[in-house]
Amino acid sequence: MSKLKIIGTGNYLPDLVVTNQMISEIVETSDEWISSRTGISERHLSGGEPTWHMACEAGRRAVEAAGCDPLAIDMIVVTTVTPDYYTPSIACVVQAELGADHAICFDMNAACSGFVYALDLANRYLNDPDINNILVISAENLSKISDFSDRATCVLFGDGAGAVLCARNEDPADDSRLLATCLGSEGKQGHFLVARALRVGHPFMKPENVWDDRFGHRPDHYINMEGQEVYKFAVRVLTDSVQNVLDKAGIDLADVRYIIPHQANSRIIEASARRLSARPEQMVSRIADFGNTSSASIPICLHELVRDNQLNRGDRVIVCGFGGGLTYGAALFVY
Ligand code: UT7
Repeated sequence: MSKLKIIGTGNYLPDLVVTNQMISEIVETSDEWISSRTGISERHLSGGEPTWHMACEAGRRAVEAAGCDPLAIDMIVVTTVTPDYYTPSIACVVQAELGADHAICFDMNAACSGFVYALDLANRYLNDPDINNILVISAENLSKISDFSDRATCVLFGDGAGAVLCARNEDPADDSRLLATCLGSEGKQGHFLVARALRVGHPFMKPENVWDDRFGHRPDHYINMEGQEVYKFAVRVLTDSVQNVLDKAGIDLADVRYIIPHQANSRIIEASARRLSARPEQMVSRIADFGNTSSASIPICLHELVRDNQLNRGDRVIVCGFGGGLTYGAALFVY
């Protein structure tokens, strides 16, 4: 098995900061409700930046932090549910912007679990001797699919991007590696979290053949979420998948420095911490400042820890995503 090492991290958060107070001026809500139910105080929203721009900046910062020549990047994977184009992929745009001319580029969508799925994918690709450096970027512009007249959802989401440059660790004396992953999907529960894309429609189609929406949701592209159902799913899979990777790796939670869960709700993070008997300082929670940025939330947090010198080489970290699909996944790695 290859040894995946994260050799650079980066993130990008738009300058525009929207506080709970600002949201309460456009929908019937309050700072008190949002803070106590979610832990969110403010979020960054795009000031106009498209998703590809945020992806490029986070990716560039990760590549620069690693001191890597963009021409040495063999693959770029971008995870997003909020691309700017059906084609080209954001990964191809990043390739052009960074001058990573030798990279294979594609996007993937595993919703809020995207970063963990991409890390697992990168680890598997690094078994190929022709692939040495993989840039994984998670970038989301959830403001594009948030209905700012729906208080149940618009208070939750934020925009931003995070990135890691992964390399094959060839040094036998260097412990950095991915130790275990656990991925899963529960498509039968997909209707709990839906944002639709374009419907089928062309001049040769019989009007009576228009299909009902599979999920029976609203006709626009905004996020629909049955919050309490997703909440229950989140606490279950977060707890189980963290335990799963610990068991697979034969490691005790006490020997893990951080669990970085997807930042969806501080109550989910706290409930899972209690179930796992995790120490408070092990659970990373930055949701107060960023809100829920879907797949970007984990690499955004990871970069903050690296930037603030709160993560050292040799530390064990578990990342855990959950969300639309429904999907979930955890990965345990040595930084
Ligand atoms: O990233 C993908 C994964 N996503 C998640 O994991 C999200 C999981 N779900 C959650 O985090 C929570 O379910 C939410 C934060 C979305 C909602 O919290 P909740 O405690 O489940 O609230 P609720 O939906 O049960 O609503 C409780 C009450 C309702 O009023 P009534 O019916 O009790 O009178 C809502 O209408 O709160 C009301 N409400 C609000 N009130 C003020 C809903 N949104 C708001 C709001 N401000 N923004």
